[in-house]
Amino acid sequence: MHMKIYFSLAALLVVVIIGCSSTKTTETTAPSTAAASPASDHGKALYEANCTKCHALKDPKAFSEEKLRKMVPIMAAKAKIDAETQSQILTYVLAVNKQ
Ligand code: HEC
Repeated sequence: MHMKIYFSLAALLVVVIIGCSSTKTTETTAPSTAAASPASDHGKALYEANCTKCHALKDPKAFSEEKLRKMVPIMAAKAKIDAETQSQILTYVLAVNKQ
């Protein structure tokens, strides 16, 4: 009789442990997925903030990937932005271009 209670407690403990570890797995995956989106949102924000000073926002889909890779550094020099900002803008416009 007592053994049965023991077993059910042990079983319950296993369920709780598995339950917790699977929650932890979800927790570790969630921030990485969440981090991917703000990164591209950040590129979008940088693009909108730095690339509208001289002309309207160019539609990345209106140009070839090759053209964007060539134009962004030229425009980055005009916009006087740093390499990190330039690379985030390039990542963003190439992502939009591929959509
Ligand atoms: C200092 C002014 C200036 C800034 C800032 C600027 N551009 Fe330009 N951009 C120009 C000029 C001038 C042209 C050529 C005339 C036009 O197409 O409006 C141009 C043209 C372009 C073109 C079109 C090229 C073509 O062949 O039609 C793209 C794409 C472009 N810019 C992207 C960007 C991006 C991305 C940024 C931000 C990193 C940016 N620009 C920031 C001045 C600027």
